[in-house]
Order: sequence, then structure tokens, then C-alpha cells
Amino acid sequence: MTIYKANILFTKQNDYFEVIPNGFVAVRDGIVQGVYSELPADLRYAEVIDYGDRLLIPAMNDLHVHASQYHNQGIAMDMELLPWLENYTFPEEIKYADTNYAKRMYSRFVHDLWRFGTMRTVAFATIHEESTRLLMQLFEKAGMGAFVGKVDMNRNCPAELTEDTNEAMRANEAIIDSYRQANRSHSALVNPIVTPRFIPSCTPDMLRACGDLARKYQLPIQSHLSENKNEIKWVQELEPESKFYGDAYYRYSLFGQTPTIMAHCVYSSPEEIELMSRQKVLVAHCPTSNLNVSSGMAPVRTLLNAGVRVGLGSDISAGHDLSIFRVMVYAIQVSKMHYRQHQESCPFLTLSEAFYLATKSAGSFFGKVGSFEQGYEFDALLIDDSNLNHGDYSLPQRLERFVYLGDDRNIQLRFCRGKQIAEPEIIQ
Ligand code: GUN
Ligand code: FE
Repeated sequence: MTIYKANILFTKQNDYFEVIPNGFVAVRDGIVQGVYSELPADLRYAEVIDYGDRLLIPAMNDLHVHASQYHNQGIAMDMELLPWLENYTFPEEIKYADTNYAKRMYSRFVHDLWRFGTMRTVAFATIHEESTRLLMQLFEKAGMGAFVGKVDMNRNCPAELTEDTNEAMRANEAIIDSYRQANRSHSALVNPIVTPRFIPSCTPDMLRACGDLARKYQLPIQSHLSENKNEIKWVQELEPESKFYGDAYYRYSLFGQTPTIMAHCVYSSPEEIELMSRQKVLVAHCPTSNLNVSSGMAPVRTLLNAGVRVGLGSDISAGHDLSIFRVMVYAIQVSKMHYRQHQESCPFLTLSEAFYLATKSAGSFFGKVGSFEQGYEFDALLIDDSNLNHGDYSLPQRLERFVYLGDDRNIQLRFCRGKQIAEPEIIQ
């Protein structure tokens, strides 16, 4: 048993913080046994690691990020989604046929997730089997949790990214097989996820193959949904039988038949929202991406009110910021503009709600992750906010100042599943 003492903050529910000043969290085999303001009698003689006045919070989860777009972070912001993909993104992803390039970029990417305190990630790689394996190995070596998707795509893209469906499925099965062999005895931190890029990139036979693959191996699924108006129009032309965009995925068993993340959902109709709620689809809300490729403002409050689960995603490189703390701020700000735009009909997000989306709500995709309740995996960050805490601030205010003003330099320690995570190596 290890007991950590610090100022503990987390969100059991979305509408308020649990706050335990000078509290204790007891962890055994990576699992939280309890949080206490006073140590119970049976733990009184256990060893306590005292972190003094620092903050101890759950680690961040990123539900949607393109590892293979890391080189393009912070550039190429002058187009909407479809031309942006064609002009900037596909040319970059072609480079991942070269595993040396992949190693350099992916090692930086994993390193920087670590820097910003993201201990669990749901990532897109590219179509390339070998570089996808590399990314998975880098997460494993770091000791950080991830679902990593070999991207499947075979239409409306450059020849270098156009795969044969059978070859794509062979590569997926080869990756899946390695992970099943390796993980037979324990629940792994790194796992594959079925990743059809989005409907315009996948023919019906590719979509069907992806749905079959997910069902056969009971694997989760990730894709993009209702992000951009031109995209939605195009999907309706490509899949004329579908009632709406999400229905097209549903027909191919790619919409909650196994655990599913859909990124964006900016323009989801009431029917689509209803199906997401029924199928327990988890929405990856990506506010920076919504802004940069001028997609629009995702109606997060409407999704939440309809019972849809929502987490946050950085969506590098349509999104520009890998820090989920910064993404929280954007989520709040975008929700405020949405509120103003829509005659104040939907209240904007509060800090505890944004924090809940990034921790317990997003963490649910990985199991019991994202909270300090008993039975949760101990994924945590130790925050030294002494440079920001020069006044009379309450603990939630100290957390708020760190979220708005802090950066990676304030993150002193990172834990994933109970283990302290050391700085991963950058391969030059
Ligand atoms: N839709 C299909 N591919 C992509 C991508 O790479 N980024 C974003 N934001 N949307 C997509
Ligand atoms: Fe994306």
C-alpha cells in the first residue's frame, strides 16, 4: 500500500469538485483504495509520501489526436476541413511509410503527451502497419495508456494512402494478433482500435470490413462525425440510403456495436444525437479544431442534456494545442460563444464540467480511469502551483489558475496505473 498526502481535487460528478485539503489517497497495485481527510485506523502506520501544499489531481485523457500530424502542429490553418486534408494533411501522412521519420515524430509526440500530463490517449496513426506498431511500442515503453489505430482508407485520397481492403484487414489482424498474444495474461495499457478515417475516405466494402473486424475481435472503434457542412453533404451523396451521417456508420456496425468514439459532432441532428445516446457513443469534443478549421461550435450542452457522453480531444493538427488543460479552457470559451449565439438557451460549461469531461468522462473509455474514487486506476498529476499561488486562493481557485495560466512546468510528477512515469526518450 502506498499513501500519498496532498491537496486532492477531482470530479466524481460534473457539477462540483471533490476537495480534500491535506488529504490522503491510498493506492495498492495501481488501484485507489480510498481517499481520506484523516487516515483510518488500519492505515495509521502505513508509510505516507507527503507532497506538502501541492495539488494532486487525476491525469488527463485525450480522446482524439492524430499522432501522424504532429509535424503540422501550429501550421496550415488557412483552409476548411476538406481542402485542408488534401493540401496539408494527406501529404504529411504519406511520410509515415518511412519508419525512421515515424520514429522521430512519434517519439516527440509521446514525449509531449507526457509533458502535458496526458496519461491516456486515443490516437490515429496512418495506414502504415510498421509505423503504427512503432507508435504502440513507444506508448508501451513509456508506460502510458493508449488505443492506437492503424488508419483505414481507400478512396478520395492520394494513391500513396489508398489501400486495398484485404491488405488493410491483413495488416489490422496482424497488429491485433500481436497484441492478443502479448496480453493474454494481463489487461494491457496499449491496445489497437478499429479506425476507418471517415465515410468519404472509405468505400462501403472497407466500412463493412471495419465493422466486421471490430465485431470479430470485440475491439473499439474511432472515427469522425458531422464535423463540417461540406463533409456532411458529401456523405449524404456517398451513402444515399443513410438517414443521416451517424446512421451510415450504424449500418456498417461502426456506431456503438462495440465501444465507439466519434470526434466533433458539430452538426449532429436530433436523430443523430438520439442514436449516439442510445448506442452509448462517446463524443470527442475538439474545440481548438472546431476553431482552426472553422468547422463551427459543437453543441456540447445539447449533447450532455440528451445523455450523450462527451470527452475532450486535442485533434492535432486541426487542433493546435496538445495540452488538455488548454483544451478545457477552449471548451469553456467556445461554449460561451455558443451560448451567446443561441440566445442563451444552453448554459455554458463551468470549470468542473470541463474538468469532468477531460477526466472521468473521457477516462471511462479506458475502464475505471479519471477519478480518485475507490476502485479507480491511479492516474494522477502532482501540480506545483507555487509560482501562481501568491494570494489568498481557495483550492478550486488554485486549480482554475493552473488550468488557465499554468503549463507543463507546473506538472511535477505523473502517474499512470499507479506507476510514476519517467520522461520518455526523444529519438533524433
Ligand atoms: N476528418 C477526416 N480526417 C480528418 C483529420 O485528419 N482531421 C480532422 N479534424 N477531421 C478529419
Ligand atoms: Fe481528427
